[in-house]
Amino acid sequence: MSEKRVVTITDPISGKSADCPLLEGTHGRPVIDIRQIARELGYFTHDPGYATTSACRSAITYIDGEKGELLYRGYPIEQLAERSNYLEVCYLLLYGDLPDHAQWEEFNASIRRHTMVHEGIRRFLFGYRYDAHPMGMLVGIVGALSTYYHDSLDVRIPEHRNLSAIRLIAKLPSIAADCYKHSIGQPYMYPINSLGYVENFLQMMFAVRAEPYVPNPVAVRALELMLILHADHEQNASTSTVRLAGSSGANPFACIAAGIATLWGPAHGGANEAVIHLLEAIGDPANIPKFIARAKDRNDPFRLMGFGHRVYKNFDPRATLIRQACHDLLRDLDADDQPLFGIALELERIALEDEYFVERKLYPNVDFYSGIILRALGIPLNMFTVLFAMARCVGWIAQWLEMMVDEEQRIGRPQQLYTGAPRRDYCPLAERGA
Ligand code: CMC
Repeated sequence: MSEKRVVTITDPISGKSADCPLLEGTHGRPVIDIRQIARELGYFTHDPGYATTSACRSAITYIDGEKGELLYRGYPIEQLAERSNYLEVCYLLLYGDLPDHAQWEEFNASIRRHTMVHEGIRRFLFGYRYDAHPMGMLVGIVGALSTYYHDSLDVRIPEHRNLSAIRLIAKLPSIAADCYKHSIGQPYMYPINSLGYVENFLQMMFAVRAEPYVPNPVAVRALELMLILHADHEQNASTSTVRLAGSSGANPFACIAAGIATLWGPAHGGANEAVIHLLEAIGDPANIPKFIARAKDRNDPFRLMGFGHRVYKNFDPRATLIRQACHDLLRDLDADDQPLFGIALELERIALEDEYFVERKLYPNVDFYSGIILRALGIPLNMFTVLFAMARCVGWIAQWLEMMVDEEQRIGRPQQLYTGAPRRDYCPLAERGA
């Protein structure tokens, strides 16, 4: 990595200059290290939403938004989606390389060994109302995990960090399924560790103790794909939240709970749920123009959910993969979601021809299709974002692990441009008039 080039920024008012090193990574735009600006010129920089600011070095995921490219540890998402599986992708994201045979056996075994959730944690669920949103339960329960693992909470010890990572990845499906069972009043299922990660999750979701359950292999593969595609996405809002929380030395369960809370918003992980609401509201392809007109109306806050992305300005490569999987799944399962998918395809066609969407490079994103897949699999709407959290958990932990050994890491502390009242003196209530 070359760090020799310098960009000189001169303040025409004071005549002072700051020499800012230009940092070059493996791929992507070079980055100006702006720390000298504050030191030499006395200014902070202003960048709401951090849209043009790099906050860390990272070797995990690379996105080229113009080309529509996504790499995990250098491997194109298309190859991983076609040839790998979710747990192998987890290993890759966490440790940097694909596992050899022995590493795979050990990792797979340790994930399986940690799938059970402490019974005390399960009793928490009884405190939630029957109709509590599963994301609300998930935030609380994941945060509470730290209260059970005092043996491994010293974030300075690599073995502790690794054990927490394994525990989180192994337990998230069990917790997610428990939240669902709570909401429908069925008894919780225990994990069956002879099953694969996805099969195990499906059985904990859909099996009942009274009957045998055999997961459908088509459903397993579709869910596996969905998990792989959502596993990491570099410095998005929830990942940045995890890093910010972790920068204070908070334990990883607290950090991941913070990430889950951020993911919940409709502009982030809540979008797949919002897409289904949108498609249902459209109801018939004939109504699409009305919705497109609303999306284009500046005076209407309405947006076409599942369209647009902060980074992808060409197409979202995950959307291409999942779109095809949607076709395959609906055909194989003979699901009754064909009309909804039909509306989705027509909406996509019309929006992609519309000048407003073309000009702003608003393409369907991964969540435009992932909601349809999850619905076809029988996953209830309020569990969609929970599945996103389950998939993204590994990305959050990989980024947290990376941050914990980053020598540049400091507690996150953005600056601000203060626009409030100028300094003034306190006036007692009695002297303030009516
Ligand atoms: N429908 C209609 N107009 C849109 C949309 C949309 N979905 N998205 C952006 N625009 C318009 C926006 O009004 C603005 O227009 P103008 O320049 O005339 O003011 C322009 O496009 C740029 O939008 P922006 O809000 O500045 O873009 P952003 O990068 O800040 O926001 C986004 C990205 C994903 C939050 C936004 O596109 C959006 O709200 N999309 C719908 C929600 C969604 O699908 N979110 C899932 C994202 S992918 C999964 C994930 O990473 O979590």
